[in-house]
Amino acid sequence: MATLQELKGRTAVVTGAASGIGKALAARCFAEGMNVVLADIEPKALEATRDELAQGTGKVIALVTDVSKAQEIERLAAKTLDAFGSVDLLFNNAGVGAGSTAWESTLEDWTWVMGVNLWSVIHGIRTFVPIMLKQNRPGHIINTASIAGLIRGHHSASYATTKHAVVALTEQLALEFHRVRAPLKASVLCPSWVNTRINESGRNRPEHLLNKNAPPPPSPEMIKTWERMQEDIKRATAPSVIADAVFDEGISKGKLYIVPHKETAQYIRNRFDGIMQDI
Ligand SMILES: NC(=O)c1ccc[n+]([C@@H]2O[C@H](COP(=O)([O-])OP(=O)(O)OC[C@H]3O[C@@H](n4cnc5c(N)ncnc54)[C@H](O)[C@@H]3O)[C@@H](O)[C@H]2O)c1
Repeated sequence: MATLQELKGRTAVVTGAASGIGKALAARCFAEGMNVVLADIEPKALEATRDELAQGTGKVIALVTDVSKAQEIERLAAKTLDAFGSVDLLFNNAGVGAGSTAWESTLEDWTWVMGVNLWSVIHGIRTFVPIMLKQNRPGHIINTASIAGLIRGHHSASYATTKHAVVALTEQLALEFHRVRAPLKASVLCPSWVNTRINESGRNRPEHLLNKNAPPPPSPEMIKTWERMQEDIKRATAPSVIADAVFDEGISKGKLYIVPHKETAQYIRNRFDGIMQDI
Protein backbone atom coordinates (compact mmCIF):
# COMPACT_ATOMS: atom_id res chain seq x y z
CA MET A 1 0.00 0.00 0.00
CA ALA A 2 1.26 3.49 -0.87
CA THR A 3 3.04 5.52 1.81
CA LEU A 4 1.99 9.05 2.67
CA GLN A 5 4.32 11.08 0.42
CA GLU A 6 2.69 14.49 0.07
CA LEU A 7 2.57 16.10 3.51
CA LYS A 8 2.14 19.77 2.66
CA GLY A 9 -1.36 20.97 3.52
CA ARG A 10 -2.22 17.69 5.29
CA THR A 11 -3.10 17.45 8.98
CA ALA A 12 -1.14 15.88 11.85
CA VAL A 13 -2.25 15.24 15.43
CA VAL A 14 0.51 14.91 18.04
CA THR A 15 -0.08 13.83 21.65
CA GLY A 16 2.43 14.74 24.32
CA ALA A 17 3.30 17.64 22.02
CA ALA A 18 4.43 20.12 24.68
CA SER A 19 7.81 18.50 25.37
CA GLY A 20 10.54 16.18 24.18
CA ILE A 21 9.84 13.81 21.30
CA GLY A 22 6.28 15.09 20.73
CA LYS A 23 7.47 18.68 20.40
CA ALA A 24 10.16 17.61 17.92
CA LEU A 25 7.61 15.65 15.87
CA ALA A 26 5.33 18.69 15.81
CA ALA A 27 8.23 20.92 14.71
CA ARG A 28 9.00 18.55 11.82
CA CYS A 29 5.30 18.55 10.82
CA PHE A 30 5.42 22.37 10.64
CA ALA A 31 8.61 22.20 8.59
CA GLU A 32 6.74 19.94 6.14
CA GLY A 33 4.00 22.57 5.76
CA MET A 34 1.34 20.56 7.61
CA ASN A 35 -1.56 21.72 9.76
CA VAL A 36 -0.79 20.57 13.29
CA VAL A 37 -2.97 19.75 16.28
CA LEU A 38 -0.97 19.84 19.51
CA ALA A 39 -2.41 17.86 22.43
CA ASP A 40 -0.96 17.71 25.92
CA ILE A 41 -2.06 17.66 29.56
CA GLU A 42 0.26 20.53 30.61
CA PRO A 43 -1.49 23.80 29.66
CA LYS A 44 1.37 26.31 30.03
CA ALA A 45 3.94 24.19 28.22
CA LEU A 46 1.38 23.51 25.49
CA GLU A 47 0.68 27.21 25.00
CA ALA A 48 4.41 28.00 24.91
CA THR A 49 4.98 25.23 22.34
CA ARG A 50 2.19 26.55 20.13
CA ASP A 51 3.59 30.09 20.24
CA GLU A 52 7.14 28.89 19.59
CA LEU A 53 6.36 26.51 16.72
CA ALA A 54 3.49 28.19 14.93
CA GLN A 55 4.93 31.72 14.91
CA GLY A 56 1.64 33.33 14.03
CA THR A 57 0.59 30.94 11.27
CA GLY A 58 -3.03 29.77 11.33
CA LYS A 59 -1.92 26.19 10.87
CA VAL A 60 -2.07 25.11 14.48
CA ILE A 61 -4.49 24.43 17.26
CA ALA A 62 -3.51 23.39 20.77
CA LEU A 63 -5.87 21.41 22.98
CA VAL A 64 -5.37 20.49 26.60
CA THR A 65 -6.10 16.77 26.55
CA ASP A 66 -5.73 13.92 29.01
CA VAL A 67 -5.01 11.08 26.60
CA SER A 68 -5.91 8.42 29.15
CA LYS A 69 -9.58 9.42 28.81
CA ALA A 70 -11.62 8.23 25.82
CA GLN A 71 -13.94 11.27 25.86
CA GLU A 72 -10.99 13.66 25.68
CA ILE A 73 -9.56 11.87 22.65
CA GLU A 74 -13.02 11.97 21.03
CA ARG A 75 -13.11 15.73 21.68
CA LEU A 76 -9.61 16.04 20.19
CA ALA A 77 -10.78 14.30 17.00
CA ALA A 78 -13.91 16.46 16.74
CA LYS A 79 -11.89 19.68 17.17
CA THR A 80 -9.34 18.48 14.60
CA LEU A 81 -12.08 17.93 12.02
CA ASP A 82 -13.71 21.28 12.87
CA ALA A 83 -10.41 23.10 12.37
CA PHE A 84 -8.89 21.30 9.39
CA GLY A 85 -11.49 18.87 7.99
CA SER A 86 -9.27 15.76 8.02
CA VAL A 87 -6.51 13.87 9.81
CA ASP A 88 -3.67 12.23 7.90
CA LEU A 89 -0.95 11.61 10.49
CA LEU A 90 -1.58 10.57 14.08
CA PHE A 91 1.23 10.41 16.63
CA ASN A 92 0.12 8.54 19.76
CA ASN A 93 3.20 9.73 21.62
CA ALA A 94 2.37 10.90 25.17
CA GLY A 95 3.92 8.72 27.85
CA VAL A 96 5.09 8.63 31.46
CA GLY A 97 7.28 6.49 33.68
CA ALA A 98 6.69 5.51 37.32
CA GLY A 99 6.91 2.63 39.74
CA SER A 100 9.44 -0.10 40.25
CA THR A 101 9.19 -3.90 40.44
CA ALA A 102 5.97 -5.64 39.44
CA TRP A 103 4.99 -6.26 43.07
CA GLU A 104 6.19 -2.99 44.63
CA SER A 105 4.61 -0.68 42.06
CA THR A 106 1.41 0.56 43.67
CA LEU A 107 -2.05 0.27 42.16
CA GLU A 108 -1.87 4.02 41.52
CA ASP A 109 1.46 3.59 39.66
CA TRP A 110 0.00 0.83 37.49
CA THR A 111 -3.23 2.72 36.80
CA TRP A 112 -1.48 5.95 35.84
CA VAL A 113 1.15 4.36 33.57
CA MET A 114 -1.35 2.00 31.89
CA GLY A 115 -3.70 4.95 31.27
CA VAL A 116 -1.20 7.33 29.70
CA ASN A 117 1.01 4.81 27.87
CA LEU A 118 -1.46 2.14 26.71
CA TRP A 119 -5.10 3.19 27.01
CA SER A 120 -4.22 6.44 25.21
CA VAL A 121 -3.06 4.46 22.17
CA ILE A 122 -6.19 2.28 22.27
CA HIS A 123 -8.39 5.39 22.48
CA GLY A 124 -6.43 7.05 19.66
CA ILE A 125 -6.87 4.04 17.39
CA ARG A 126 -10.55 3.49 18.21
CA THR A 127 -11.36 7.16 17.64
CA PHE A 128 -9.18 8.17 14.70
CA VAL A 129 -8.96 5.02 12.54
CA PRO A 130 -12.67 5.03 11.55
CA ILE A 131 -12.27 8.69 10.50
CA MET A 132 -9.12 7.91 8.49
CA LEU A 133 -10.71 4.84 6.85
CA LYS A 134 -13.66 6.95 5.79
CA GLN A 135 -11.33 9.51 4.18
CA ASN A 136 -10.03 6.60 2.02
CA ARG A 137 -6.66 8.14 1.22
CA PRO A 138 -3.11 7.49 2.45
CA GLY A 139 -2.60 8.09 6.17
CA HIS A 140 -0.21 6.92 8.86
CA ILE A 141 -0.39 6.17 12.59
CA ILE A 142 2.84 6.26 14.59
CA ASN A 143 2.74 4.92 18.15
CA THR A 144 5.61 5.76 20.47
CA ALA A 145 6.72 2.66 22.39
CA SER A 146 10.38 2.35 23.43
CA ILE A 147 13.28 -0.04 23.09
CA ALA A 148 11.81 -1.26 26.42
CA GLY A 149 8.99 -2.71 24.29
CA LEU A 150 11.35 -4.95 22.31
CA ILE A 151 13.77 -6.23 24.93
CA ARG A 152 13.74 -7.74 28.41
CA GLY A 153 14.34 -5.72 31.52
CA HIS A 154 13.47 -2.18 32.63
CA HIS A 155 13.49 -0.67 36.10
CA SER A 156 9.71 -0.12 35.91
CA ALA A 157 7.46 -3.14 35.39
CA SER A 158 4.48 -1.03 34.35
CA TYR A 159 6.54 0.91 31.80
CA ALA A 160 7.92 -2.31 30.25
CA THR A 161 4.44 -3.86 30.18
CA THR A 162 2.84 -0.90 28.42
CA LYS A 163 5.63 -0.55 25.87
CA HIS A 164 5.52 -4.26 24.92
CA ALA A 165 1.75 -3.86 24.58
CA VAL A 166 2.14 -0.81 22.30
CA VAL A 167 4.50 -2.81 20.05
CA ALA A 168 1.98 -5.71 19.89
CA LEU A 169 -0.92 -3.33 19.27
CA THR A 170 0.91 -1.62 16.41
CA GLU A 171 1.89 -4.95 14.81
CA GLN A 172 -1.75 -6.01 15.00
CA LEU A 173 -2.93 -2.67 13.56
CA ALA A 174 -0.54 -2.92 10.60
CA LEU A 175 -1.77 -6.45 9.88
CA GLU A 176 -5.40 -5.40 10.08
CA PHE A 177 -4.81 -2.45 7.71
CA HIS A 178 -3.23 -4.91 5.27
CA ARG A 179 -6.09 -7.43 5.61
CA VAL A 180 -8.79 -4.87 4.87
CA ARG A 181 -6.66 -3.22 2.15
CA ALA A 182 -6.81 0.12 3.95
CA PRO A 183 -4.65 2.92 2.49
CA LEU A 184 -3.20 3.34 5.98
CA LYS A 185 0.16 2.47 7.55
CA ALA A 186 1.17 1.88 11.15
CA SER A 187 4.65 2.22 12.68
CA VAL A 188 5.99 1.86 16.19
CA LEU A 189 8.80 4.08 17.46
CA CYS A 190 11.26 2.27 19.75
CA PRO A 191 14.08 4.60 20.82
CA SER A 192 16.64 4.11 23.54
CA TRP A 193 17.52 7.18 25.68
CA VAL A 194 16.40 10.57 24.39
CA ASN A 195 17.16 13.89 26.07
CA THR A 196 13.65 14.86 27.26
CA ARG A 197 11.77 15.42 30.52
CA ILE A 198 10.61 11.78 30.81
CA ASN A 199 12.46 11.47 34.14
CA GLU A 200 10.23 14.29 35.47
CA SER A 201 6.99 12.57 34.44
CA GLY A 202 5.54 13.09 37.93
CA ARG A 203 4.98 16.77 37.09
CA ASN A 204 1.77 15.76 35.30
CA ARG A 205 0.51 13.03 37.60
CA PRO A 206 -3.14 13.63 38.48
CA GLU A 207 -4.02 14.15 42.15
CA HIS A 208 -6.30 11.10 42.36
CA LEU A 209 -3.48 8.81 41.12
CA LEU A 210 -0.82 10.00 43.56
CA ASN A 211 0.32 7.17 45.84
CA LYS A 212 -2.00 7.12 48.86
CA ASN A 213 0.52 5.20 50.95
CA ALA A 214 4.22 5.81 50.61
CA PRO A 215 5.68 3.02 48.48
CA PRO A 216 8.43 0.91 50.11
CA PRO A 217 11.79 2.74 50.14
CA PRO A 218 13.75 1.94 46.98
CA SER A 219 16.51 -0.63 47.25
CA PRO A 220 20.13 0.58 46.91
CA GLU A 221 20.16 -1.17 43.53
CA MET A 222 17.07 0.79 42.40
CA ILE A 223 18.63 4.08 43.59
CA LYS A 224 21.74 3.33 41.53
CA THR A 225 19.58 2.53 38.50
CA TRP A 226 17.78 5.87 38.86
CA GLU A 227 21.03 7.80 39.20
CA ARG A 228 22.45 6.09 36.13
CA MET A 229 19.26 6.86 34.22
CA GLN A 230 19.45 10.60 35.06
CA GLU A 231 22.99 10.67 33.67
CA ASP A 232 22.04 8.65 30.57
CA ILE A 233 19.17 11.02 29.76
CA LYS A 234 21.36 14.14 30.06
CA ARG A 235 23.80 12.72 27.51
CA ALA A 236 21.13 11.18 25.29
CA THR A 237 20.06 11.76 21.69
CA ALA A 238 18.32 15.03 20.80
CA PRO A 239 14.56 14.66 20.15
CA SER A 240 14.94 16.22 16.66
CA VAL A 241 17.15 13.26 15.62
CA ILE A 242 14.33 10.91 16.67
CA ALA A 243 11.73 12.96 14.77
CA ASP A 244 13.90 12.79 11.64
CA ALA A 245 14.11 8.98 11.97
CA VAL A 246 10.31 8.81 12.26
CA PHE A 247 9.83 10.79 9.05
CA ASP A 248 12.67 9.17 7.08
CA GLU A 249 12.20 5.53 8.12
CA GLY A 250 8.54 5.40 9.13
CA ILE A 251 6.60 7.88 7.04
CA SER A 252 8.73 7.95 3.85
CA LYS A 253 9.82 4.29 3.76
CA GLY A 254 6.79 2.82 5.53
CA LYS A 255 8.82 0.73 8.02
CA LEU A 256 6.78 -0.90 10.77
CA TYR A 257 9.59 -0.74 13.37
CA ILE A 258 11.44 2.56 13.80
CA VAL A 259 14.52 1.83 15.91
CA PRO A 260 16.69 4.97 15.75
CA HIS A 261 19.44 3.58 18.01
CA LYS A 262 20.91 0.89 15.75
CA GLU A 263 23.27 -0.29 18.52
CA THR A 264 20.25 -1.75 20.38
CA ALA A 265 19.85 -4.47 17.71
CA GLN A 266 22.02 -6.80 19.82
CA TYR A 267 19.63 -6.57 22.82
CA ILE A 268 16.66 -7.38 20.58
CA ARG A 269 18.54 -10.39 19.18
CA ASN A 270 19.43 -11.53 22.72
CA ARG A 271 15.75 -11.57 23.68
CA PHE A 272 14.81 -13.76 20.74
CA ASP A 273 17.85 -16.01 21.26
CA GLY A 274 16.69 -16.51 24.85
CA ILE A 275 13.23 -17.52 23.64
CA MET A 276 14.68 -19.92 21.05
CA GLN A 277 16.93 -21.55 23.65
CA ASP A 278 13.90 -22.36 25.80
CA ILE A 279 11.92 -23.96 22.98
N1 LIG B 1 13.05 10.02 26.66
C1 LIG B 1 13.35 8.78 26.45
O1 LIG B 1 14.50 8.34 26.72
C2 LIG B 1 12.36 7.83 25.81
C3 LIG B 1 12.82 6.60 25.33
C4 LIG B 1 11.90 5.73 24.75
C5 LIG B 1 10.57 6.10 24.63
N2 LIG B 1 10.13 7.30 25.12
C6 LIG B 1 8.73 7.63 24.98
O2 LIG B 1 8.60 8.84 24.27
C7 LIG B 1 7.32 9.42 24.54
C8 LIG B 1 7.47 10.90 24.79
O3 LIG B 1 8.17 11.10 26.02
P1 LIG B 1 9.37 12.14 26.17
O4 LIG B 1 10.58 11.34 26.41
O5 LIG B 1 9.33 13.14 25.09
O6 LIG B 1 8.99 12.78 27.61
P2 LIG B 1 8.50 14.26 28.00
O7 LIG B 1 8.14 14.16 29.45
O8 LIG B 1 9.53 15.25 27.62
O9 LIG B 1 7.20 14.46 27.12
C9 LIG B 1 6.01 13.73 27.38
C10 LIG B 1 4.79 14.66 27.19
O10 LIG B 1 3.61 13.87 27.46
C11 LIG B 1 2.72 14.72 28.18
N3 LIG B 1 1.74 13.94 28.97
C12 LIG B 1 1.93 13.27 30.12
N4 LIG B 1 0.76 12.74 30.55
C13 LIG B 1 -0.18 13.08 29.63
C14 LIG B 1 -1.57 12.83 29.53
N5 LIG B 1 -2.25 12.11 30.45
N6 LIG B 1 -2.23 13.33 28.47
C15 LIG B 1 -1.58 14.06 27.52
N7 LIG B 1 -0.25 14.34 27.58
C16 LIG B 1 0.43 13.85 28.62
C17 LIG B 1 3.64 15.55 29.07
O11 LIG B 1 3.00 16.72 29.55
C18 LIG B 1 4.81 15.84 28.15
O12 LIG B 1 4.61 17.05 27.45
C19 LIG B 1 6.75 8.62 25.71
O13 LIG B 1 5.78 7.70 25.23
C20 LIG B 1 7.95 7.89 26.26
O14 LIG B 1 7.60 6.70 26.93
C21 LIG B 1 11.01 8.17 25.70
